[in-house]
Amino acid sequence: MPLVDLDRFDFLYANRVKGMKSAATRDLMATLSRPGIISLAGGFPDTRTFGEEAFREISGHVATDSAQALQYGPTAGLEGIKDIIVDVMAAEGTRANQEDVFVTTGAQQGLDLVGKVFLDEGDAVLCEGPTYAGALNAFAAYRPRIIHVPMDRAGMIPVAAHEALKKARKQGIRVKFIYTVPNFQNPTGVTLAAHRRRELLEIAREYDLIILEDNPYGMLRFEGESLPSIASVEQEAFGSTDRVVYLGTFSKIFAPGVRLGWVHAQPGILHKINIGKQGADLCSSNLSQMLIHSYFQHADWRSYVKRLTALYKERCDAMLDALAEFMPNEVHWTHPEGGLFVWATLPTYVDATSMLPRAISRNVAYVPGEGFFANGGGKNHMRINFSFVEPDKIRRGIELLSEVIRERMELRSDLERGSQHSSQQASRSAVGNPER
Ligand SMILES: Cc1ncc(COP(=O)(O)O)c(C=O)c1O
Repeated sequence: MPLVDLDRFDFLYANRVKGMKSAATRDLMATLSRPGIISLAGGFPDTRTFGEEAFREISGHVATDSAQALQYGPTAGLEGIKDIIVDVMAAEGTRANQEDVFVTTGAQQGLDLVGKVFLDEGDAVLCEGPTYAGALNAFAAYRPRIIHVPMDRAGMIPVAAHEALKKARKQGIRVKFIYTVPNFQNPTGVTLAAHRRRELLEIAREYDLIILEDNPYGMLRFEGESLPSIASVEQEAFGSTDRVVYLGTFSKIFAPGVRLGWVHAQPGILHKINIGKQGADLCSSNLSQMLIHSYFQHADWRSYVKRLTALYKERCDAMLDALAEFMPNEVHWTHPEGGLFVWATLPTYVDATSMLPRAISRNVAYVPGEGFFANGGGKNHMRINFSFVEPDKIRRGIELLSEVIRERMELRSDLERGSQHSSQQASRSAVGNPER
């Protein structure tokens, strides 16, 4: 990182920059590409699975209309890609309208645009605690308050969300939306239970809020039954999309390199988002949209997603087995039914942030939990990724990690023994040590 405190233009930067911090995962990227490191830190889908031949084929189709691929496009996206998005959402059980689809430069841009459209300084957003660090980053530019709602194994706890809203109202704080990653959440891997999706929607109706449903991982389920999206629960109950703003992406079912995602929302909201996007990048890349169009039209994308999920299941199993085999009893972790991540909880006295350099020196990396909270917390947690590393390396990585954690735990026991010893000595000398 640059020497931020010595930045000589500090006096010129906008106030909004003060609340913005670089995501730990982005900062780690350079270190993690060092040879020999087993990185359980990234959030990378395994793009190696796609293959050169398949890529050449879809690029060939795009080349036949190179003039359009190289041109600017409409801000809301090309019509053909919107049809594909409708199909993808239908494959996950959400009925989408083509005219309610808006193409973005990754779901990440969707997060930024929703922040831009809804948040004034001091407004509040209810988020899971912990939540996706990239969302905190995107929202931070608009200087909101982040209210974390506790989670358990079934996701955000609606009663706690309700309490938080009641409290915010009493304090005169304006909450604009509830942000949730309902499936295999980043960072915890936890899925929001079906009845909680309905409850959150009811709470949002009671308080007249938006729900921002960010669903990059829903199709990456390798166990259990898939659950209705909050958007589809709303459609079932009220016949149309109203307060649910749904974010989707091609990053996890195809490739993050195309940087393409979408927003599905009602027309009024999309109109504002359109204006926001014009100021951000005019339009998403035609080239990427046409690549995706070519792929989804000519290839069996569903089988590819199945292949990916089978691969991730194998790797997730390898991680869960290794955790069970190597970790001390005091460490706990989640059991995801899909997605890319496991969340591990260490004894409260183990600080995962300060432990990271030691882990890296032992050639294993993870993301410390702290970055997934806006206002402190998460210190004794870590996010570990299973999608990008082969099973034998995952096993070795977890073994190394468990050694580093044990070392920390032993250090603490030694310190405790040491302080007991010195307090015993102190009390002996206080009463006068007869041996002296
Ligand atoms: C929860 C969540 N939302 C959004 C994104 C951004 O995805 P995209 O690549 O579509 O910008 C990610 C990326 O990892 C994510 O985990």
